Amino acid sequence: MEFDINYLRGLQVLDSRGNPTVEVVVVTEGGGYGRAMAPAGASRGRREAVDLRDGGSRFLGMGVLKAVEAVNKVLAPALIGLNSSNYRLVDRKIIEVDGTPEKSRVGGNACVATSLANIKAAADTMGIPLFNFIGGFKARLLPTPLMNVINGGAHAGNELSVQEFMLIPVGADKFSEALRIGVEVYGGLKKFLKDSYGPGAINVGDEGGFAPPMRRVEEALNALTEAVRLAGYAVGSDVLIGMDAAASQFYEESSGKYRVDGRLLSHEELLEMYLDLVPRYSVAYLEDPFNEDSPAMYGELRKALKGEALVIGDDLTVTREDLVSEYLGKGFIDGAIIKVNQVGTYSEAENAVRRLLTSGGKAIISHRSGETEDNTIAHIAVGLETGIIKTGAPARGERTAKYNELLRIEDYLGDEALFQRGRPFK
Ligand code: PGA
Ligand code: ZN
Repeated sequence: MEFDINYLRGLQVLDSRGNPTVEVVVVTEGGGYGRAMAPAGASRGRREAVDLRDGGSRFLGMGVLKAVEAVNKVLAPALIGLNSSNYRLVDRKIIEVDGTPEKSRVGGNACVATSLANIKAAADTMGIPLFNFIGGFKARLLPTPLMNVINGGAHAGNELSVQEFMLIPVGADKFSEALRIGVEVYGGLKKFLKDSYGPGAINVGDEGGFAPPMRRVEEALNALTEAVRLAGYAVGSDVLIGMDAAASQFYEESSGKYRVDGRLLSHEELLEMYLDLVPRYSVAYLEDPFNEDSPAMYGELRKALKGEALVIGDDLTVTREDLVSEYLGKGFIDGAIIKVNQVGTYSEAENAVRRLLTSGGKAIISHRSGETEDNTIAHIAVGLETGIIKTGAPARGERTAKYNELLRIEDYLGDEALFQRGRPFK
């Protein structure tokens, strides 16, 4: 049968931080070829799938030869001969062979690369783009990009507590125009930072955003506002602002408080800070505003915001269908970040997306801070018609790989391509 997997092999390659990662190649009987690489997070949720790392001195302990061996000796024998287009069955086999709740036997990194390489091989066997394999021929919605242009937290060598400051270009009629707005504001930001903080301020962090020597949330928000103006756009109508606090990273277990801008804030004080910033800076998106063990605080914030900004889970929800369902149902979140490697297989991530979208929630297909030239998430965003993608600044090859693939998809769809102006953020 032409869809049957007849070759499946893993190897060790490098990610954008120079750390080893897992690549998997799948080939089908019919000659379909799929290749995928595992990304890696720096600010990981506690309940994410676990990557297998070698330890020891080679590659500073970050090697993935054990995970590669698991691909070749454990996953390959179990998957060869299966029908790649029946990807749910393939993923179920991966889950079964691993046998642990957190994918720790073969490694989340081995699982995600295998699962994604499989759907790519199936699509290639059919001779159709991956987004069509995922969503059929009705899938034609290009996503609004959340572009992380100021990096802090675990992604940069500066003193910003908040991890990400994002531009959301909503005043466009097509994806390529939204991207252009983002690129122009990124250019405006570069000029503003250089003029205000000196040439060192335009060094970039892990996700391609600038990593200026700032200390305060408001400094970053002021810079973004200036940049939008310098590029000739209006904050609030053309461009909205988003923040990923990744608050678990600056939450102190000992005091039960958050260390922000040199101050120690209680849950309630942090909530007040958000309520103050949202209207003043047109903030329309708040991701992981509290630590991942305080889901009810997400709900408090969401209630107080009355729809002015979206409250989104990432470390909180780790792409698990049960968690997104629970927190969406309780009204704690408006939606969740979707990272296939948080949960380990494509089908599990797809389950979480479908649960969100059918329950009125938002699903944001996302990269990791450690990425590769793999562009699969561009196809997942279009295929599942999420309408939103988060894949960094328009800089660094591992980030532009996704944007460029979306440009190709838009071009391929031609007049059929859809884009939601102003939505889904208003
Ligand atoms: P990570 O961060 O990839 O370093 O975990 C990304 C995010 O928190 O959204
Ligand atoms: Zn996040």
